[in-house]
Order: sequence, then structure tokens, then C-alpha cells
Amino acid sequence: MSWLSVVVVAFWAMLPAYLPNNVAVLAGGGPPIDGGRTWRGARLLGDGKTWRGTAAGTTAGAGLALALDAVAPGVGDAVGVDLPGFPVAAAIALALGAMGGDIAASFIKRRLDRQRGAPVPGLDQLDFVLGALALAALAAPTWFGETFTPSVLAVVIVLTPILHVTTNAVAYVLGLKNEPY
Ligand code: CTP
Ligand code: MG
Repeated sequence: MSWLSVVVVAFWAMLPAYLPNNVAVLAGGGPPIDGGRTWRGARLLGDGKTWRGTAAGTTAGAGLALALDAVAPGVGDAVGVDLPGFPVAAAIALALGAMGGDIAASFIKRRLDRQRGAPVPGLDQLDFVLGALALAALAAPTWFGETFTPSVLAVVIVLTPILHVTTNAVAYVLGLKNEPY
């Protein structure tokens, strides 16, 4: 596979994991997942992790995967790349795992006494990728191994932080996010 095909496959395979956090920003609000509970003097997760944002993000990411399945043959032909499909287990795991990784990061941030919205460089850019990849590997191991080859994985790890920083900066400029990260 050419390096450009590897980039296209990596981006395509990760789209269901990239969408959920952005949808959560738009749909977030309402009761927090931790119900306001604290642990050792700090919030368990904080007001930034809500049921509504999580449900909307997961549904959007999994739905996107199934929509991508429908258009993959046409798009693949047009760009000359053999695009991966998403079995239902992989579709749900990528989206739910992305939300879960971000939630786990908030748990860690509260333990480090970082307030809601405080940046933790590195963690903020990779939490959802690691969550998505880990849950997909568990839920659809064969598909995972075939899709996320070592070169695709390497591209995902390099490409994701760049995309994440860019989309968050755009969301900030558009007034959708309170912080540019
Ligand atoms: N959001 C949500 N539910 C999630 C994730 C995000 O409702 N599971 C919404 C919240 O409104 C949140 C916003 O998206 O404030 C931005 O998400 P994020 O940057 O992940 O949260 P922060 O508010 O920065 O909180 P934290 O410090 O815990 O990351
Ligand atoms: Mg944040």
C-alpha cells in the first residue's frame, strides 16, 4: 500500500472515533454522569461529562460507521483505495471507546486536581484514540488486526493529535467550545 493509501485508510477507520467527542460538545448538557459525586475531595468526573453528550456522541459515531459502510465501495473506487468496512461491533466499540477514553481522562484529571476544562497536553489529544482502539481490539479482534496494521496504527497516532488540535481551535473560534484545546 502506498503511504497515501495508508493515511486514507487510517482516517477512514478512525472517523467513527473522531466524531463522538465533537458531537458531545454540541449535544452536552444536563445531568453529569458522576451525579455530582466527589472522591477524595474532587469530583469523580466533573460537569463536563454528561449522559446526554455521551449518548449523542456514541450514537453519532456508530451511525457514521454504518453510513460509511454504505458509501465505502463508491468512495473507494473514486479514490482508488480499498477502504475498510465496519462490522456492527467495531462501529459501536470505536464510538463508545472514544467517549470512554475521554471520560477516563477526566477521571485522571480530577485526581491530578485539574479543574474542568484545564488542559493536559498529550492526554487530551490521545485519550479518545486509546479508548477507541482498545475497545475495538476487544470487541472485534479479527477486524482490528486486519484494519489496524502497524503502519495504519502509526499514522493514527501521528495524525490524530494534529486533527484534534485543529478541530478544537476551529470549534473555539466558532464559539462552540470554551477553550481552544
Ligand atoms: N461533553 C459531554 N459529555 C461527554 C464529553 C463532553 O457532555 N462525555 C460536553 C460537555 O459540555 C463538555 C464539552 O463537551 O464541557 C467539552 O468536552 P471536554 O473538553 O471533553 O470536557 P471539559 O469540559 O473540558 O471537561 P474535562 O476537564 O473533564 O475534560
Ligand atoms: Mg476540555
